[in-house]
Amino acid sequence: SLAGLDLREEIDRLRMERNAVILAHYYQKPELQDLADFVGDSLELSKKAAETDADVIAFCGVKFMADTAKILSPEKIVVLPDMEAGCSLEDSCPPEKFAAFRERHPDHIALTYINCSTEVKALSDVIVTSSSAETILSQIPEDQKIIFGPDRHLGGYLNRKFGRDMLLWPGVCIVHEAFSERELLKLKAEHPEAPIAAHPECPPHIIDHADYVGSTSGILNFAKTFPGDTLIVATEPHIIHQMEKALPEKIFLGAPGADGNCNCNICPYMALNNLEKLYLCLRDLEPRIEIEEGLRLKARASLDRMLEMAA
Ligand code: 13P
Ligand code: SF4
Repeated sequence: SLAGLDLREEIDRLRMERNAVILAHYYQKPELQDLADFVGDSLELSKKAAETDADVIAFCGVKFMADTAKILSPEKIVVLPDMEAGCSLEDSCPPEKFAAFRERHPDHIALTYINCSTEVKALSDVIVTSSSAETILSQIPEDQKIIFGPDRHLGGYLNRKFGRDMLLWPGVCIVHEAFSERELLKLKAEHPEAPIAAHPECPPHIIDHADYVGSTSGILNFAKTFPGDTLIVATEPHIIHQMEKALPEKIFLGAPGADGNCNCNICPYMALNNLEKLYLCLRDLEPRIEIEEGLRLKARASLDRMLEMAA
């Protein structure tokens, strides 16, 4: 039984003993963000995973993120506190269907959001994250035909912003899909001076009201620099933890769902990780990410292209 254990102390002890680094995404519970060695967006976490000289990476995030860490750092042990921590975007895009989609469009390259399986990465030409997508797309010639998957909202946002007509895979993030335009406008009416910062995984009826659109680290940066005292945040609400830490005198309001509060926008996959499971995965070095080498090398090629083009 774990009763009586000081989990934070045990995690610190195991982190030393195992020479482990704990990486956490901004959508993780505050207690996990606070004990992580590094907290970041998907691109920053990929870079950290590629660079670290730790022997073990404990990834407080979802499976595609831990898979990415393993693809980039195959010699390391990569553990995920809960293997069931998936992603609706990954689920929307089964590799065999994605392969068939590519075959129907042989003159298109595949620009693919990092929120997908290793198999889909292996079938893609260039991976992007929300913080690197704009830089990368701007390096691809205007006349190059492109398939973009699996997030149709991020793809649609990029199409509108850059006047492109990428073919979109029909996936969505269930978290960002749950924001209510009606409730957002009600909140905005109560705080007319508060800007709205939104993640590009939001549908267009939310993005259209945003003063700033960007990745989690982009939104956090906007929160640290906007001139007012109240900000409406249209992304997974756990990121507000970092905002409140950095700017305790300001007010951060999570954009609401249809029920008028922001709790329905908590990512159910990210929420599977907790202190106890982090402790257990550091203790047992399980559950562990394993990827077949041929598949890994193919996925690595499209990720390396991202890291080169995003630099
Ligand atoms: P970023 O942190 O790269 O903006 O990604 C957001 C997200 O939904 C991760 O699942
Ligand atoms: Fe996937 Fe959305 Fe959760 Fe991110 S927030 S892991 S995109 S379901």
